[in-house]
Amino acid sequence: MSENTTSSQKLRVLLGVSGGIAAYKSADLVRRLKERDFIVRVVMTEASTHFITPMTMQAVSANPVHLDLFDQEAEAAMGHIELAKWADIILVAPATANTIAKINQGLADNLLTTLVLASKAQLVIAPAMNQQMWTNTTTISNVEGLRQKGTLVFGPDAGEQACGDVGAGRMMEPLMIADEMLRLSATSFERQELRENKLILNGLNVMITAGPTVEAIDPVRFISNHSSGKMGYALAEVASDLGAMVTLVSGPVNLCAPNGVSVKPVTSAKEMMATVQQHIGNCELFIGCAAVADYTPIKVAKHKIKKNEENMNVELVKNPDIISWVAAQKQRPIVVGFAAESQNLSEFAINKLSKKKLDLICANNISQEELGFNSENNEIFILDKSGKEVHLPAASKSNIAKSILEHIYQQFLIK
Ligand code: C5P
Repeated sequence: MSENTTSSQKLRVLLGVSGGIAAYKSADLVRRLKERDFIVRVVMTEASTHFITPMTMQAVSANPVHLDLFDQEAEAAMGHIELAKWADIILVAPATANTIAKINQGLADNLLTTLVLASKAQLVIAPAMNQQMWTNTTTISNVEGLRQKGTLVFGPDAGEQACGDVGAGRMMEPLMIADEMLRLSATSFERQELRENKLILNGLNVMITAGPTVEAIDPVRFISNHSSGKMGYALAEVASDLGAMVTLVSGPVNLCAPNGVSVKPVTSAKEMMATVQQHIGNCELFIGCAAVADYTPIKVAKHKIKKNEENMNVELVKNPDIISWVAAQKQRPIVVGFAAESQNLSEFAINKLSKKKLDLICANNISQEELGFNSENNEIFILDKSGKEVHLPAASKSNIAKSILEHIYQQFLIK
């Protein structure tokens, strides 16, 4: 077992095995999952039984293997709906192009696809297929469709394939999948804990901006920054878990939409402004977490600029200040901003708070390695108009998000 693993707290994993050559690795995957304390049941498609026997899977999982939707004996022991409810996570590994396509379409033509359709469990797929099939545009759009519906995709790896081809499409190694599952289980337990807490933001309309903005210079070049969007996405996810209705206006990032959150993708600051204005409606809490580019090129060159000159100037103009616009509205929500500073943290943050007429500002020191911009963790100082300062020591962005939202609840929303 690798070192950075924590307990899976006895999560129940329904492992779906579909029919690809990588199915022979599924027995090892079951062992790796069990080593990490997961409780594993296995469901196999008919095709997968040509690559590995149900007997093997039963022996390693120490549970009967589920094969057939119409098996009366199996249904009597544990019906398929019961099995769908039993699972905390459904992991399809290997997930063939065919099974991925069926799940994306909502087909329920075998026990595995029926269970996926009938379950509220987090779905994870570990694709495995020939590289040509993986890069086929239909597969790409099926995988993208699943991602957008909240499915997590592990892998695939690249390398030599069973058919002799070389490329992407190998199933991620069982050990890696099991470790990823462990990381996932830690977050899903945190989320479950949150859900079981009081839904302190129940029904609250929340808008969050996240990520960088991208300002075009010409059709090829742009100005942007290193914001990953992770803090804004964590806020959106936690706010949604706490019962809020969340609209996330997001610059270009590499993150999955959190479950239940309405994501409005934008590119430039101007687009972010227009989207905020369009959807601000009855917003009650606005959190400006985006790293909006301060300046944008005065004009975007229609064609790629040629490098004929030794020096070149790009004339820039200030972008609209989105959060200031929100805070200036007559019927304004609670407005919370972020201030990423590399020096004089409190002083600069307080100046921003008063200049932009914010209710709170979350300041973080971006000169510290491992914290803030583009990292997993953050350390925040929450400042308000009275100058009161609350320190949130370095923690995961998800934990920081939870503390920020609890602070907002305590200071503005508690009745
Ligand atoms: O001025 P500065 O960018 O440091 O301010 C940070 C805060 O203002 C953040 O909350 C950010 O999302 C918001 N902001 C904005 N529109 C801008 C610039 C910043 O909403 N054009």
